[in-house]
Amino acid sequence: MGLKHKDLLDIKGLNREEITLILDTAESFKEVTGRDIKKVPTLRGKTVVNLFFEPSTRTRTSFELAAKRLSADVINFSVSSSSVIKGETLLDTARNIEAMRSDFIVVRHSASGAPHLLARNLNSSIINAGDGSHEHPTQALLDMYTIRERKGRLEGLKVAIIGDITHSRVARSNIYGLTRLGAEVRLIGPPALLPPGIESTGASVYYHVEEGLSDIDVIMVLRIQLERQGKNYFPTQREFARLYCLTPERTMLAKEDVMVMHPGPINRGIEISPDVADGLSSVILEQVTNGIAVRMAVLYLLGGAGEA
Ligand code: CP
Repeated sequence: MGLKHKDLLDIKGLNREEITLILDTAESFKEVTGRDIKKVPTLRGKTVVNLFFEPSTRTRTSFELAAKRLSADVINFSVSSSSVIKGETLLDTARNIEAMRSDFIVVRHSASGAPHLLARNLNSSIINAGDGSHEHPTQALLDMYTIRERKGRLEGLKVAIIGDITHSRVARSNIYGLTRLGAEVRLIGPPALLPPGIESTGASVYYHVEEGLSDIDVIMVLRIQLERQGKNYFPTQREFARLYCLTPERTMLAKEDVMVMHPGPINRGIEISPDVADGLSSVILEQVTNGIAVRMAVLYLLGGAGEA
């Protein structure tokens, strides 16, 4: 059974069964990525284009490896050496890529809704690799996969997301996904970094780390996104760190077997202390490893897996 969608644009548009299907499928691909020869012929003859208009270390590399492990051909489009700098629009650029017979276009863009624009106008499957402050669906899927792998379930778990919620596409995708799968989500940050009305998603809001972390199973720390902030939301980074940085002392407020996550890139000493980032509770690099299996599952399921 495949996903009944041409594109993966957000988590908000996925139901519980669809999210579970992706996570279950990723489990099979995780086994493949652990083999000596980490390759299956599933997408042989298909072409995946990575179209990243913003920097990326993890997501772009992970999609490239996922596509290669499924035997697809992969093109990494470099915006800085393309005709984008001569003024070509996003849509014209993508139409030209599709004219070369792409099957999947993985897009990251600073404008919220950019992948949706491509999805409406192109036949290729569009995968959102992060659009502005809107969503980052494959990050949330790999986060949910990592939690489920470690804890055996998502239902009933208490997950705290700390930091810059307002500008975080990772937070938005995780809030939709985790609440849909039955987890309790707490959002912790200064009032200026918590969007008004966010409680309507089912998440609860805390302004003090000490309150929000009590009895928590999973802590997800977010980076302060200085590049998306048009104004100062807190006096200084030092002030933010004093109040919200995840330190070993603060981690101890959560459950003893708490797992600490971060989507990366991390700012050591600002939102997370090096001791916690590199400590025994941290699964930050496991998240990166799992990203490949999850993205293999997404490519496989969008490719019409199992269709007659
Ligand atoms: N988590 C994440 O999206 O990382 P990159 O920006 O390195 O892709």
